[in-house]
Amino acid sequence: MGHRIAAKITGVAGHVPPRTVTNLDIEKIVDTNDEWIRTRTGIRERHYAGPGVAASHLGTEAAKKLLESKAVSPEEIDMIVVATVTPDMFFPAAACLIQDRLGAKKAWGFDLSAACSGFAYALTVGAQFVGAGTHNKVLVIGTDVMTSILDFKDRATCVLFGDGAGAVLLEPASDAEGIIDFAHDVDGSGGCNLYMPAGGSLNPASAETVEKRMHYVHQEGAQVFKYAVRRMSELAVELLERNGFTSRDLALVVPHQANLRIIRAMQERLGVDDSKVMVNIDRFGNTTAATIPLGLMDAVNEKRLRKGDLVLLIAVGAGYTTGAVLMRWAY
Ligand code: UT7
Repeated sequence: MGHRIAAKITGVAGHVPPRTVTNLDIEKIVDTNDEWIRTRTGIRERHYAGPGVAASHLGTEAAKKLLESKAVSPEEIDMIVVATVTPDMFFPAAACLIQDRLGAKKAWGFDLSAACSGFAYALTVGAQFVGAGTHNKVLVIGTDVMTSILDFKDRATCVLFGDGAGAVLLEPASDAEGIIDFAHDVDGSGGCNLYMPAGGSLNPASAETVEKRMHYVHQEGAQVFKYAVRRMSELAVELLERNGFTSRDLALVVPHQANLRIIRAMQERLGVDDSKVMVNIDRFGNTTAATIPLGLMDAVNEKRLRKGDLVLLIAVGAGYTTGAVLMRWAY
């Protein structure tokens, strides 16, 4: 049995920028077509932020909606953990910018970089502080403006991603509710298959790095695809089994939304049917750290979650990173 974490999600909200970009719109930018994108990825449209709109802006909007819906004042927030690979800038952290915009005066916080697994990592981190009894209200935010690092000359990557943010509130829980257990791992040998080569200390920005298009997402799609299917299903089974569950006990799986074919292959290995799997990649594309909270948002809006439901969040991302969080839905 895993060690029970005394923390629960008590609210969720999301925010995507208003501009919708369909596959037909993308056809005008690169050599691709709606049929390829739909059948190979499941994506129909995604949202793009405009100039001047960064990860902290989307994250702040998601957090504001969340706090309003819960009638929680920003001053009550103890901590803000932000998962992102597209922070506004290297420093200060997006968490600091969000803290200021929200007016979350007593909160501390930081950013965490685990790409598409970022939200699961951030949720686990935030839950530790609530579970320890030292923090009562923790905001966990996943936010990414992927368009800021997309190469619109690379059709194999630019069609996949969208911009967005999602946020949850973590609060103390009793033994019978909330987060049950988590599992995370890293396989750094996969780092070369999904990365942004320049802009960091290895290849600081220069005219050459710009000219060589090194400030964009580079991906070996087929490698990532295979790893994602295998590792998400393995980790999910491990997490369920060590807590005495099987996939039949799950009411809902909220997977990272990178590719509908990855999701379907993963759920087949798990033995879970479509009705128990949250899918909204058709509307948002891959929003990296935001996919899971946006999935939770839609699940709540569509009334697919009931108090007591066993819910699994699962993601694989650049790193490679893998994250899974198992919980009893608490409201
Ligand atoms: O969240 C972060 C983790 N990322 C992921 O999980 C993404 C994982 N990978 C994938 O989702 C898939 O590998 C992709 C969607 C990126 C690619 O799908 P695929 O089925 O692996 O296609 P492929 O890369 O093997 O390419 C098949 C063909 C190629 O043409 P040829 O060489 O067979 O003639 C590509 O050039 O499809 C072509 N292609 C495209 N055609 C039209 C690649 N991208 C496009 C495109 N439109 N956008």
